[in-house]
Amino acid sequence: MIQVKNLTKIYRLNKKEMNKQNTREKSKIAVDDISFEAKENRIFGLLGPNGAGKTTALRCIATLIKPTSGSITVNGYDTIDHSLEVRREICFLTNELKLDTHFTPKYTMEFFGKLYSMEPGNIYRRTKELFTRFAIEDFKNTPIGELSTGMKQKLSIAVSLIHDPKVIIFDEPTNGLDIITAKSVTDYLLEMKAAGKTVIISTHIMSVAEKLCDEAAILLDGKISASGTIAEICKENGESNLEDAFYKLYFAENEGRRT
Ligand SMILES: Nc1ncnc2c1ncn2[C@@H]1O[C@H](COP(=O)(O)OP(=O)(O)OP(=O)(O)O)[C@@H](O)[C@H]1O
Ligand SMILES: [Mg+2]
Repeated sequence: MIQVKNLTKIYRLNKKEMNKQNTREKSKIAVDDISFEAKENRIFGLLGPNGAGKTTALRCIATLIKPTSGSITVNGYDTIDHSLEVRREICFLTNELKLDTHFTPKYTMEFFGKLYSMEPGNIYRRTKELFTRFAIEDFKNTPIGELSTGMKQKLSIAVSLIHDPKVIIFDEPTNGLDIITAKSVTDYLLEMKAAGKTVIISTHIMSVAEKLCDEAAILLDGKISASGTIAEICKENGESNLEDAFYKLYFAENEGRRT
């Protein structure tokens, strides 16, 4: 279970960041007072367009960055006071994960398994299971530098899951994957949910969210503009599908800003 209470994250911007973000402001409110819960046996979706604050929120949950204010607990552990315990409970998949290009997939799994102090037999068993599952066997001895984007994404997923975490945090899990591989990932997440794990994903693809998520929060410019079950979000916005509900919220928000 992940409990996020009044989470706010403000980045201080240096000159380079100010140029990059085309602003004169010295700070950016990336996440603005958001609260939600992601539960066991459920898949929770953080949905929103580019720059909405999805990755920032997930990085706070994964203890990679500190919230400016608010609190987060993962299975009862506070992400600031008990960050080590939180890290043992979770995995975090992000496209910012840099894998060493000289290593092979097989070696990378061993390396990360040892980081988690796993027994060699356990690392071997888990690697075999995940490599079979995500069709990595065929290129397990190829240096990562020679792999395609999709192959690297599959390996990143396997690496993140090596220690069989109770809480799965996946930032844009189907990015860069063909539809067959994307399906193997979404099927896997559904199995993990059925096995009692807590799963939270971010995505800007509403069809993925609709198929996968039990509950979701739509983030727009750092704020939650709708939340609940997918059916509730659709109903509240008078739409029959999530994509139309999302457009409605998005255009209402941007219309509001212009006036
Ligand atoms: N390290 C940082 N320093 C300064 N600003 C940042 C930093 N990281 C993100 N931001 C800004 O915070 C806002 C939210 O970014 P974030 O990456 O969380 O969005 P996102 O919803 O994950 O977007 P995307 O769909 O593009 O991945 C954006 O305006 C971004 O430019
Ligand atoms: Mg992101």
